[in-house]
Amino acid sequence: MDTDEKKRLAGIEACRWVRDGMSLGLGTGSTVSHTIIELGRMVSEGEISVVGVPTSVATRDLAQTLGIPLTTLSEVGSLDLVIDGTDEFDPKFCLIKGGGGALTREKIVAQSSKAMIVVADERKQVDVLGKFHLPVEILQFEWRATSARLAEICPGGVALRGGENPFQTDNGGYIIDCDFGGAIDDPRTLESEILSIAGVVEVGLFCDMCDAVILAGEDRVETLVKNGGRLG
Ligand code: A5P
Repeated sequence: MDTDEKKRLAGIEACRWVRDGMSLGLGTGSTVSHTIIELGRMVSEGEISVVGVPTSVATRDLAQTLGIPLTTLSEVGSLDLVIDGTDEFDPKFCLIKGGGGALTREKIVAQSSKAMIVVADERKQVDVLGKFHLPVEILQFEWRATSARLAEICPGGVALRGGENPFQTDNGGYIIDCDFGGAIDDPRTLESEILSIAGVVEVGLFCDMCDAVILAGEDRVETLVKNGGRLG
């Protein structure tokens, strides 16, 4: 099975957790876009009625094209479930997210959800987080100063995403990708440390948020449910 097919199968499998009447967080990325496409099919064929809160402009546009009704956290307060992709997940279901630059909106939506399911292919499963460069969204204002503070705590160095043509998030921020060389042993402490730097908007570490991972491997899709999580 190639990677695209794994993403497609994991994405579609997540829809098994969706029930009629649910409010859903709609994640961002190439894997969860398969979930959203399948949800669009289920809605258009009258199988379910749901409302969604998108985590990016791209996801909003996709959901609108598919006819999935959208709402906001202000209107619904909290969500029954968020489904999203990830860049890495560890045995404790901690995540690195933000490869697509949507980490801040993704985290706002995840923290307002009663449960979180992640869809992934097997490349995303790691023992220790940090081989994937950790995305940090920062303000454009004096971004070099903020980036320098990040570099002080990041052994492998930092890079402005996009370089001379900086990538801009949906919030107008920049992304600094931080190389921790596969060695984020204590993601909670690192999250607090990074968030304490002025100019940082959000960091792509998601701890104590994910309850299950739908994981597509070479010949099967399995659902890993976190012990003691909200879906366990
Ligand atoms: C978006 O900012 C990210 O958090 C994505 O959810 C993550 O990068 C996974 O994306 P893919 O499914 O495209 O690998």
